[in-house]
Amino acid sequence: MLLLDDKNRAELWQTLTAEVENHLQQVEKLAVAPKTNVAEIRSRLAPIDFEKPLAPLFALDFAVKNLTEFQVHTTHPRYFGLFNPAPTAMSIAADTLVAAFNPQLAAWSHSPFAAEVERHLIRAFAVRFGYDEATADGTFCSGGAEANHTALVAALVHHFPMFESEGLRGLKKQPVFYVSPESHHSFIKAARFCGLGTNYVREIETDESFRMSLDNLTEQIKRDREGGFAPFFVVATAGTTNGGTIDNLTETADIAARENLWFHVDAAWGGAAVFVPELKTALDKIERADSITFDAHKWLSVPMGAGIFLTRHAEILSRACRVATDYMPRDAGSFGVTDSFVHSMQWSRRFIGLKVFLSLMVAGWEGYAEAIRHQTAMGEYLRRELEKNDWEIVNQTPLPVVCFRDRKFLESNQGDYLNAIAAELVSSGEAWISTTRMSGTVPVLRACITNYRTQEKDVKHLVAILCQAREYFSPTVSTVCPATAYSSLIR
Ligand SMILES: Cc1ncc(COP(=O)(O)O)c(C=O)c1O
Repeated sequence: MLLLDDKNRAELWQTLTAEVENHLQQVEKLAVAPKTNVAEIRSRLAPIDFEKPLAPLFALDFAVKNLTEFQVHTTHPRYFGLFNPAPTAMSIAADTLVAAFNPQLAAWSHSPFAAEVERHLIRAFAVRFGYDEATADGTFCSGGAEANHTALVAALVHHFPMFESEGLRGLKKQPVFYVSPESHHSFIKAARFCGLGTNYVREIETDESFRMSLDNLTEQIKRDREGGFAPFFVVATAGTTNGGTIDNLTETADIAARENLWFHVDAAWGGAAVFVPELKTALDKIERADSITFDAHKWLSVPMGAGIFLTRHAEILSRACRVATDYMPRDAGSFGVTDSFVHSMQWSRRFIGLKVFLSLMVAGWEGYAEAIRHQTAMGEYLRRELEKNDWEIVNQTPLPVVCFRDRKFLESNQGDYLNAIAAELVSSGEAWISTTRMSGTVPVLRACITNYRTQEKDVKHLVAILCQAREYFSPTVSTVCPATAYSSLIR
């Protein structure tokens, strides 16, 4: 029953590949976002009580239909959203293979090929980021949040030898670390998970271009030292989630060196710029980072989750993650290799690297550089089209994310107006964009080119419907514009 018989299995695989191909070809014709209807979804699930076995093709069809109907289609070329990519064909094949072979990466000897593929990739990425291959190390993880958490643990272990055994209570001074309001909020969670407490995460104000203000950073470190705290970790972001801002890596590295702080660069999505010679300079000196977060499931367009933690401290992961057990295989030493379970937060671990490996094998660095160039060009095209139409670009970045507001809108606070526009665009199904606030204060619309299949026609369509929305919405948005009326207008 669990394996199915030969006939049912053959039908299942055939239908599955047909459905995958159909989705790739047809996604453009779908509404980008669903009509969210929790009651409808629950009513469809309610009869599935697992009491009576159902036919495999019925089950598959149930999943396909409901995924199609009830999902923001992040693989749609007019999904201009948070960085969720359209997966490469090779990565879809890889994840299927991984599910079938189910390699266990915890112990090297269980899956030597898989473990070596990941080691090979970690070295290749480390070199691309400018690390010395001989001393670089790293691990695949679930995503950027886990990589950032790993960086925080690594920094604690590195700075406070007592931390490993005694925890924070064994330290003489309270550790503090530095982020900006534009840093990813996974650091707040990581502070909680490490027992540091969020009061000891110092949010350093940004400057006028939304980069961490280095004067403020220096002053805060000084205040903290005088106040009896122990500064140990600073985060620069290379491509913020909000606006693609790249913090000043060189000067942050200088401050970190001077102040003896672990310097972490969160390059979860912007890190891919290092694969393109003309963009690479934007991340100049990233190799000075003690550790780097990079997500392959962002700009390398593989399915979630494929995070990567890189470090130039060869021994730090083994120090942070070491444990001794009798029940795990103990033969790694005789092969001169390291087991993943003593080198990563995760224990049982999926073969995350295969989707990256097969995609890179087939596209090569140059194939990826081309895709990244294309997306960057689409970002520039979007900027130009918006400016031509009197939208004001608020962020500055070489990366393809555009934060903007309406130059024609005369009231100083555009928050409600922009929210209404984004909500209407999303509910129309024509595109997905969002709103945010830069440094927590400046309301903007945000559109990011996340998909290598997005073309000029998609960008033009987005700008056209934004302009229609602007014509339709007046400053008294909520009273004048019933949602449904506008949605029917732009279809
Ligand atoms: C800069 C940055 N860091 C970290 C993360 C968290 O990554 P993940 O969602 O892969 O855990 C994100 C997610 O968007 C991000 O933009």
